[in-house]
Amino acid sequence: MSDSNLNNMKKSKRYDTSHLIEDQTEPGSKGRVLKNKLGITSKREIDRHEKAEQIRTIEELTNVFSVDHRFTASDISKIHNLWLGGIYEWAGKYRQVAISKSGFPFAFPAQISRLMVEFEKGPLHKYTPCRFKTLEEVVKALAIVHTELVLIHPFRDGNGRVARMLATLMALQAELPPLDFRNMTGKGKKYYIKAVHEGMERDYQPMEKVFTAVVRKTLRDRERK
Ligand SMILES: Nc1ncnc2c1ncn2[C@@H]1O[C@H](COP(=O)(O)OP(=O)(O)OP(=O)(O)O)[C@@H](O)[C@H]1O
Ligand SMILES: [Mg+2]
Repeated sequence: MSDSNLNNMKKSKRYDTSHLIEDQTEPGSKGRVLKNKLGITSKREIDRHEKAEQIRTIEELTNVFSVDHRFTASDISKIHNLWLGGIYEWAGKYRQVAISKSGFPFAFPAQISRLMVEFEKGPLHKYTPCRFKTLEEVVKALAIVHTELVLIHPFRDGNGRVARMLATLMALQAELPPLDFRNMTGKGKKYYIKAVHEGMERDYQPMEKVFTAVVRKTLRDRERK
């Protein structure tokens, strides 16, 4: 919400999105919680709720998409809606508000539909089902699909988690265990964000390094069990 681009755009009437639910926060939440169907005003409670719903969704999704499934743009919306449909009005729908993080702007709302069609025809078609022979090929598929989806940032919120859920579904197609993303979300986050930025120039090597670490950690943990 503390989004400079959004604020600048709001100054121009044409881009005023304050009437949209996705641009509103829950009264009484001090602007910290997006307007939701449950009237939750505590950040902690909404985070907990989203987490619990995410765990349920991942379990359900492994029954929805087979190991030889080729993902589409509408599957991405389906995943988002299955996860957040009970919480937010805008679940599964492409966003209409501009979003940037730490000054880095994601795709402009008017471009999202077209970019998702391109994402389906390009990376999703080429790299799913993710049934490649070598780990290098699997990592490349994970890195490209993840980077491109994050750069489009199709939804109001939850883009990172949806992209990670998709990566897990792709990993399962490649007969890997569910991925452990701590290398991406924890200490390695700074490097990961840099890898997202490099993706703008279609340089996916930094993201391949991130996913190599994620896959290695996942496999190491499995060996220990
Ligand atoms: N400064 C940044 N520059 C570029 N991309 C970023 C930046 N910060 C975060 N991101 C990307 O945006 C994602 C967060 O977007 P969003 O808030 O929609 O997803 P989320 O699922 O709610 O959050 P998270 O991924 O942090 O759990 C991150 O996972 C990352 O891929
Ligand atoms: Mg978020």
